[in-house]
Amino acid sequence: MPRTVIEPFRVKSVEPIRLTTPEERARRLEEAKLNPFRLRAEDVLLDFLTDSGTGAMSARQWGGIMAGDESYAGAASFFRFEAAVRDLTGYPFVIPTHQGRAAERILFSVATKRGDVVPSNTHFDTTRANLEYGGVEPLDLVIPEGLEPRARHPFKGNIDLARVERLLAEQGGRVPFGMITVTNNSGGGQPVSLENLRAYRDLLRRHGKPLVVDACRFAENAMFVKLREPGQAARTPKAIAREMFSLADGCTMSAKKDGLANIGGFIALRDERWVEAARNLLVLTEGFPTYGGLAGRDLEAIAIGLEEVLEEDYLRYRLRTAEYLGEKLLAGGVAIVEPTGGHAVYLDARAFLPHLRREEYPGWALCDALYLAGGIRGVEIGSVMFGKRLDDGTETYHHHDLVRLAFPRRVYTQSHFDYAAEAILELAARAREVRGVRLVRQSRYLRHFTAELAWA
Ligand code: F0G
Repeated sequence: MPRTVIEPFRVKSVEPIRLTTPEERARRLEEAKLNPFRLRAEDVLLDFLTDSGTGAMSARQWGGIMAGDESYAGAASFFRFEAAVRDLTGYPFVIPTHQGRAAERILFSVATKRGDVVPSNTHFDTTRANLEYGGVEPLDLVIPEGLEPRARHPFKGNIDLARVERLLAEQGGRVPFGMITVTNNSGGGQPVSLENLRAYRDLLRRHGKPLVVDACRFAENAMFVKLREPGQAARTPKAIAREMFSLADGCTMSAKKDGLANIGGFIALRDERWVEAARNLLVLTEGFPTYGGLAGRDLEAIAIGLEEVLEEDYLRYRLRTAEYLGEKLLAGGVAIVEPTGGHAVYLDARAFLPHLRREEYPGWALCDALYLAGGIRGVEIGSVMFGKRLDDGTETYHHHDLVRLAFPRRVYTQSHFDYAAEAILELAARAREVRGVRLVRQSRYLRHFTAELAWA
């Protein structure tokens, strides 16, 4: 029996991609002010900027698109979407939003107040920014192994329960609820175990606090649980995912990840407490409660995506993708976050570019170098994304500088990953030539999206 884990689908529709010349890429990157977010996608060969909204839909989803009911209120597509979310999460109250951050903003607006603290393993950038925007302090309490790129732990996304306990004991009055991100995106796409989730839930419950899951990559997390957590191997990813949701009181979700859709999101809640206020806000900023900023066809695509994403062959191939690229890089001596996560491979830029100081933003510099070398677009998860320029002009820096190569779902084939590995290993061999960068212009929130940079 061949052991290669294959793409469990065949390709029905293709989209050409184009390799540019090194000179052209240098010109494009200068035009983009050294910011890969400002590049045109057509000038990118392998676009690993994000796994968000970039996946390929199935023939069944495209069929659903045609069946979309575009009625303003009470569309059949909404009820199919609601049934799919209820079936998965067990939560009766389902509020569609146009994407994950809209779900976050609405939930945080109704469930937090200025001066609150919300703990999580690691808040993703939009989650953090939405909390900060409301005067709420986001607290990242991932286990210590989660901050060590090379610490091998099966569940590096777990939250540090002792630190949560201390927070609740000392400042419990400021905590409206606990959050947890599955998988832990900013920490390397690392999973959270059922055991950790259960203990976190118990701890919060003892203090009367609900648990909200940032569920973007719930299916990948469920598959890691199946593969790694003792006693879980015989269960289906769906049964595990359902148990994950059963341990929490609600979730925010970006359907652009494990919804296998190109747009969409939702809030789902177990009890009524925040529902009315959330729906009121939804009508103001997203749309009527049965479409929430989406078209009926999008709701159909998500309803089907939420089922397909839990197919075991798909998840096995999905997790193998990152592992496969990771193995090639490790074999070539490139430092990455280990073990590989669900949706991405994270290069350790400080190890890749030891000649650069943190003030020269090694993560960003490596992103630029990867584009110049091979037309590959990744994203910096480091001090441009998470550092800050304070009002007094001083800079803060993130605890690591990583480059995330995130993989669109069902889009690239094994030879694309072979090419990526070759390009990265060739770059590693001449890493000393890579120049650092400095920030020239930046905005106050989420500065990485629009920042302008120059060579240091
Ligand atoms: N939470 C997590 C863990 C995420 O990874 C994202 C998005 C969001 C929330 C927000 O969802 O984009 O639909 O508004 N992450 C994307 C990424 C952008 O590239 O990792 P959104």
